[in-house]
Amino acid sequence: MTAKIIDGKQIAEEMKAEFREQVAKLKKKGVTPGLAVILVGDDPASQSYVTSKERDCEEVGIYSDDNRLPAETTQKELIALIEEKNKDPKIHGILVQLPLPKHLNESEVLLAINPDKDVDGFHPINTGKMVSGEKAFLPCTPHGIVQLLIRNKVTIEGADVVIVGRSNLVGKPLANMLIQKKPNANATVTVCHTHTKNLAAHTKRADILVAAVGRVNTITADMVKDGVVVIDVGVNRIDDSSKKSGYRLVGDVDFDAVKEKASLITPVPGGVGPMTRTMLLYNTIEAAKAFVGR
Ligand code: GUN
Repeated sequence: MTAKIIDGKQIAEEMKAEFREQVAKLKKKGVTPGLAVILVGDDPASQSYVTSKERDCEEVGIYSDDNRLPAETTQKELIALIEEKNKDPKIHGILVQLPLPKHLNESEVLLAINPDKDVDGFHPINTGKMVSGEKAFLPCTPHGIVQLLIRNKVTIEGADVVIVGRSNLVGKPLANMLIQKKPNANATVTVCHTHTKNLAAHTKRADILVAAVGRVNTITADMVKDGVVVIDVGVNRIDDSSKKSGYRLVGDVDFDAVKEKASLITPVPGGVGPMTRTMLLYNTIEAAKAFVGR
């Protein structure tokens, strides 16, 4: 079997077309959804992520409020800015780009964001609601993965899902979302990590396999069964002298070999990445809708 390659970019474009209409409706009600993006320091990867998020906002008509702070910003200054955005009626969503410089306390920063404006879904109130199955802002990467599965008509209910990686950003929230007693969930989920005894024994059982560890070739063809659906969340730079930049991006999965056994597979780049950015727009529009009382 050769896999169908999931086109995350195309699905993201379809969703953005839906969002443009929703934003136009909100504007008619006198509300322009607004997203405050806060970046501390000058990490080039973070700068490029933030620039792309702001471009996405403009594309669908969301007001993007750009806040780039020097690396020496203090905890107090950062919290003061978040509190200003918490009060600002033009702002419906607040995103603090992670990772923060080492001298800043990340969990205290995330706690300072008004949970009603927490479009990253990282505030413990939103995490708690998600775990309990209540309505909450869902973290963008796992939510994007669920959307990719739904829009490719993958049956999630009853599926054996194996997630490799237990990060707060992807593995843990995705596992929680997929075990809910709800449509497009109801899966049997296994979470594997660095202390898993026999990784391949688990991955071979997967109907849906999610790799989110950040290591090249973590999943090879001998570790998957025929017909598996593979979601590759890894973004790894490897040297490539044929590229102007000197590198190219690859995922955690040995794509060329695994695609010969899978039924569906996401590429890197162009799979999960565009969906993460799209779900941020979704959460920002939802925040604005809640602000106007729908
Ligand atoms: N850094 C890497 N991914 C993310 C994300 O989804 N949100 C934020 N705020 N920072 C990130």
